[in-house]
Amino acid sequence: MNYRHAYHAGNFADLAKHAILLELLARLEAVPGALTVIDTHAGAGVYDLAGAEALRTGESEAGIARLMAAPNAPEAFRSLKTAVARLNPQGAVRLYPGSPRLIAERLGPGDRLIACEARSDDHAVLTEALRGFSGSQALMTDGWTYAARQSFRDRARLLVLIDPPYEAGDDAVQAAGLSRRILVANRRAVIVIWAPIKDLMSFDTLAGRVEDAAGGCPVLIAQTRLRPLTDPMRLNGAALLIINPPDGMEGPARDIVDWVAASAGEGGEGRVDFT
Ligand SMILES: C[S@@+](CC[C@H](N)C(=O)[O-])C[C@H]1O[C@@H](n2cnc3c(N)ncnc32)[C@H](O)[C@@H]1O
Repeated sequence: MNYRHAYHAGNFADLAKHAILLELLARLEAVPGALTVIDTHAGAGVYDLAGAEALRTGESEAGIARLMAAPNAPEAFRSLKTAVARLNPQGAVRLYPGSPRLIAERLGPGDRLIACEARSDDHAVLTEALRGFSGSQALMTDGWTYAARQSFRDRARLLVLIDPPYEAGDDAVQAAGLSRRILVANRRAVIVIWAPIKDLMSFDTLAGRVEDAAGGCPVLIAQTRLRPLTDPMRLNGAALLIINPPDGMEGPARDIVDWVAASAGEGGEGRVDFT
């Protein structure tokens, strides 16, 4: 397990993922009833953008640094900008919140977050990042196994975020398999899958697997394409595939991916499809 998200924190893909995630949480939190959130691949929760890993790639420059400096970014980025500003009260953006921290900050009374992270070093940082957020728990465990063992039947309102590193060849297959399993137990579960876009064929295969797993439930696919998909060796974009998206997600998702593609991309485009 070599992947460290610290190299990529706050990059274009995080912006789109986290801004859409916060829009989605706002809609779920507007509905009464306790919400359970499982983040299967949680990462460290908070990242130091002045740390050695982040500085080595400099990816946050075209990501969160550009967003925080953009006065006219769409309204759909407001929650993410607020969360980043809250973490950096001195003003300069040094710390960037990962998905579990963003989720923990949004939970209401009675809601729960179970954040799974397999690496002990990232799990230690994650535990600190979630300290003080009641209802939020950092587990050092395999997120696939943890989620597969849960009985989702009794969880009326459920959100599962699946954000694996895609280092292992079967992450896409596992993501689709886990989604199918969750939906068999709870057909109204909201499932969010992050996916890399390198070439069209691999991405279409992944999207097809997720749509099959959804078994007729609606799927929203929000793609941020940085550039035309001509070189499959590069990360040319990123996507979120959302099964059972709450109403009203299409507009903000489009605003978010269009802005990220225009500001961080090289002739790319945003795309939102709803099936
Ligand atoms: C893409 S990062 C997660 C980023 C995070 N979701 C966010 O948006 O801030 C993937 C994380 O999954 C962890 N990981 C890899 N395999 C795992 C597994 N089987 N179970 C749980 N965590 C795993 C990695 O160590 C890494 O921290």
